[in-house]
Amino acid sequence: MSSEALSNLLHEDRRFPPPADLAAAANVTEAEYAEADADRIAFWEKQARRLSWAKEWDQALDWSKAPFAKWFVGGKINAAYNCVDRHVEAGNGEKVAYHWEGEPGDTRTITYAQLKDEVSKAANALVELGVQAGDRVAIYMPMIPETVVAMLACARLGAPHTVVFGGFSATALRDRIQDCDARVVITSDGGYRRGAPAALKPAVDEALLECPDVRSVLVVKRTEQDVAWTEGRDVWWHEAVEKQSTEHAPEFFDAEQPLYVMYTSGTTGKPKGILHTTGGYLTQVAYTHWAVFDIKPDTDIYWTAADIGWVTGHSYIVYGPLANGVTSVMYEGTPDTPHRGRWWELIAKYGVTILYCAPTAIRSFMKWGDDFPAKHDLSSLRLLGSVGEPINPEAYVWYRTHIGGDRTPVVDTWWQTETGALMISPLPGVTHGKPGAAMKALPGISADVVDDAGKPVPDGSGGYLVLTQPWPSMLRTLWGDDQRYVDTYWSRFPGSYFAGDGAKKDEDGDIWLLGRVDDVMNVSGHRLSTTEIESALVSHPSVAEAAVVGATDATTGQAVVAFVILRAASAGGDADEVGSMLRDHVAKEIGPIAKPRKILVVEELPKTRSGKIMRRLLRDVAEDRELGDVTTLTDSTVMDLIKTGLDSGK
Ligand code: WT7
Repeated sequence: MSSEALSNLLHEDRRFPPPADLAAAANVTEAEYAEADADRIAFWEKQARRLSWAKEWDQALDWSKAPFAKWFVGGKINAAYNCVDRHVEAGNGEKVAYHWEGEPGDTRTITYAQLKDEVSKAANALVELGVQAGDRVAIYMPMIPETVVAMLACARLGAPHTVVFGGFSATALRDRIQDCDARVVITSDGGYRRGAPAALKPAVDEALLECPDVRSVLVVKRTEQDVAWTEGRDVWWHEAVEKQSTEHAPEFFDAEQPLYVMYTSGTTGKPKGILHTTGGYLTQVAYTHWAVFDIKPDTDIYWTAADIGWVTGHSYIVYGPLANGVTSVMYEGTPDTPHRGRWWELIAKYGVTILYCAPTAIRSFMKWGDDFPAKHDLSSLRLLGSVGEPINPEAYVWYRTHIGGDRTPVVDTWWQTETGALMISPLPGVTHGKPGAAMKALPGISADVVDDAGKPVPDGSGGYLVLTQPWPSMLRTLWGDDQRYVDTYWSRFPGSYFAGDGAKKDEDGDIWLLGRVDDVMNVSGHRLSTTEIESALVSHPSVAEAAVVGATDATTGQAVVAFVILRAASAGGDADEVGSMLRDHVAKEIGPIAKPRKILVVEELPKTRSGKIMRRLLRDVAEDRELGDVTTLTDSTVMDLIKTGLDSGK
């Protein structure tokens, strides 16, 4: 974020108090902060009792081997039982779990009782395929109900799932399957995106050419596209699942049973497998969903407009809402199919009361114009949420005004794949909203902003965001790489978790997030690593060297800009052709979201004496700014060369 944007942010003085009626009936009041401060562990034990445990824990937190945490030690629990069975047993089986809407307009309504039957059948099918507790199952699916069923069936068996976003490429899928050694893959023929069926099965087939240990592929029929079939390995979901019994007795696992692995980009090319376990994760997603979204399970219709392939979907489409027995909306497609009012139409149709989405979507809606939401009745909404990146004050105010009718609070929620659940956020019945600020750590969570030496900064100053106490839904490690877990998160500021985000405390001590401080970009709320994209570029035969930066972008937050040096044999070609060839290559290696917005062919890259590429200077170029300090470059004329080269190419 530029310093100009930062100072604009900090001059933001609009304030939005909680609506009186919401505050009067709010789930959480101010007193909860003090209660949690007085005894953080007792506070989380109380929240854990939201769940049904087959056996209560003996010890709430074991931090003796820090930073490796164990929460609710000795407790026995089943995540799927908590998400479905117990609601049915409590007499809420007829309650709708999901109002699902396909992109072409087909719909399905799934009650908790139906969900329980489907999850039990799928669990029985997985058992038949040899899946046992501890086995990893990869899920590569569109946004359809079977994706939720597949996740819960795995959870029921204690088999950690690893959901790979359907927009990722065969290569990315292969890497993830290999890294966690998954033996079973659940996928579909495809899903609907932007008005047409998009295939998924071909990517699975390609990925599995290099995953010889995968023995079974369960394929859901969604689009009826033709699929290639590997006899003995591929099984239709409907054939394997429909014949099964709707009875499946859940086994109760240790609270620390792995629940899932979710891959996310780090500062190196190799994605990190974030491991979440059961009891602590479910406790914190259930609590935060209830507290921050002020959930009233009997009346709310809740909608997280995100993909299940990201952590937002895991925690706030699947585990949080289901643990709380809430009715959710789930939508398969894009917001502009078949028209730009699709989301607003869905809100009116289902009477959505709470909407949770990303700033990048909000900025697109702003660009499309006020008329689209204005055509629909959005009066059912009572609360709006934002996640994924800092929300600019203008987007916040537009969201509140045009979607929330100038009536609904907006909660700007900061968290990460690693944190598993919300960490820093306003509470809608308590906090005076400040556009652009995530405000303060939730009850039971301890965050701070520190300087280079790890010392808390005074109010009015900036630094690095850290979390100073363990929390129940924290990642337990990186799959197969304990050392990288320690190095990445716990070494920079000993004793504290380093989030990788810059932040500032304002004069009131409230927290504003300022974006990543490492080589990680945030494009449309999705995390991408500069190194990962650089490696993809360099894997192309015509590229000798590549440097990638995130340039500020009005819609997507950041955009990928790549600087490449071509190999001699490829130099001198048409710059546009090279650009589009390399963009396609990145899409194939990682996925379309990683495609550089711009590719600039250069002769040299700016490097320090130790050989590190100075991305800061390239970012200045990408954002068309005056260059910063160039004195540490080996050769300070490099930047002149790059600038002249670019100017002559314009
Ligand atoms: C990174 C985590 C959490 C689910 C979606 C992204 C950024 C996230 C906010 C926010 C400012 C935010 C941070 C964080 N981020 N929410 N409300 N304000 N920044 O999950 O892919 O793990 O990315 O997203 O930079 O570190 P993720």
